[in-house]
Amino acid sequence: MVDARVAILAAVRRFAVALVFARGAAVERLTASEQTGVPQVPAAPSSSVEPPVPLSQGPTPQLSRATFARRDEIRLNVSRPFLQPGDVGIEIGAGAFPSFMPDGVRCENFDRLGPAELDVYFDGLPLAPTAPMDEIPRRFPDGADFLLAHNVLEHTPDPIGRLVGWLGHVKPGGFAIVSLPHHDYCPGDARRPLPSIEHLIIDYAMCEHAGPLASREHFIAGSVGWAADWPDVGKNEFANGVLAAAMGSEVEHHFHVWDDALAHDAVAAALSLHGVGREVAFASPSTTPSTVGDIIVVVELSGTPGDVPAVRAARDVLTAAAERLPAGAVVPPPSAR
Ligand SMILES: C[S@@+](CC[C@H](N)C(=O)[O-])C[C@H]1O[C@@H](n2cnc3c(N)ncnc32)[C@H](O)[C@@H]1O
Repeated sequence: MVDARVAILAAVRRFAVALVFARGAAVERLTASEQTGVPQVPAAPSSSVEPPVPLSQGPTPQLSRATFARRDEIRLNVSRPFLQPGDVGIEIGAGAFPSFMPDGVRCENFDRLGPAELDVYFDGLPLAPTAPMDEIPRRFPDGADFLLAHNVLEHTPDPIGRLVGWLGHVKPGGFAIVSLPHHDYCPGDARRPLPSIEHLIIDYAMCEHAGPLASREHFIAGSVGWAADWPDVGKNEFANGVLAAAMGSEVEHHFHVWDDALAHDAVAAALSLHGVGREVAFASPSTTPSTVGDIIVVVELSGTPGDVPAVRAARDVLTAAAERLPAGAVVPPPSAR
């Protein structure tokens, strides 16, 4: 008998685990280069590898080991123009896959999980030394030269708020490079509806975190997108497992799903709320050269961010909502309405 709750919690990490398996070649290369202390710059991606097919255009394709191994190379190639020898940066959520660095560039790793939890999360794979998030201000009192967070923001219930917080760890003029999985290239996410940018801004305004009902409901709805990944779990067992997992202390999944436009808008909203910065590079499966399912956004922490109309639209929605609850009003009981 499958313990559905355990199966579902484990399978919510299925995509990451699939990457673990598929990315063996990349891990081996990093391990070898660690002997020198500085990961080697890998060769340019091989053009002989088939690009992935959008999941909406057919049944779930099996992405090859080689295709996934390209992901780290592409991330490095996108980041390289913004990282200079001597720079020291922060990587958030690297887990077992710390990003490749150009020669002379160094990075320290931070995660919300401790070593024992990371060991479970990454199925016992070797982990780069990782410190808790609250160590960042002590390690980088004047801010870091750059910040990387690959495939982390989708695991946060308030991605705009989280990114605003992370931008505060970067020096003026430094760079932040974040990636998100494009929903159309990520099993499970491809079957889920895209949120609007207004939704993400309201999550920000409500200080959304994993505890409130809204985030737990996101988990339940999101798990339906991944249901096909548990063919051996019966319908009722699946529902019970998802509901039990949603009540747990740690709700862990892709809270929202992403496309290029939403990634541009969420980053623009975070820059606008932070008050400094502008987008300087963008890559995704739909750009040339294309990524392997990653949407990558690079921002420079200088300049004045543009206006984001969706921030004003979300403010109007919240203002109208607040006006329905005037201070001191006595809300009539449902029977009297
Ligand atoms: C899917 S893994 C990404 C691993 C790797 N960066 C990659 O792209 O393959 C997500 C990682 O982000 C961490 N994480 C999730 N939310 C976080 C947060 N709010 N702050 C710091 N780390 C977080 C998780 O603990 C996990 O190590």
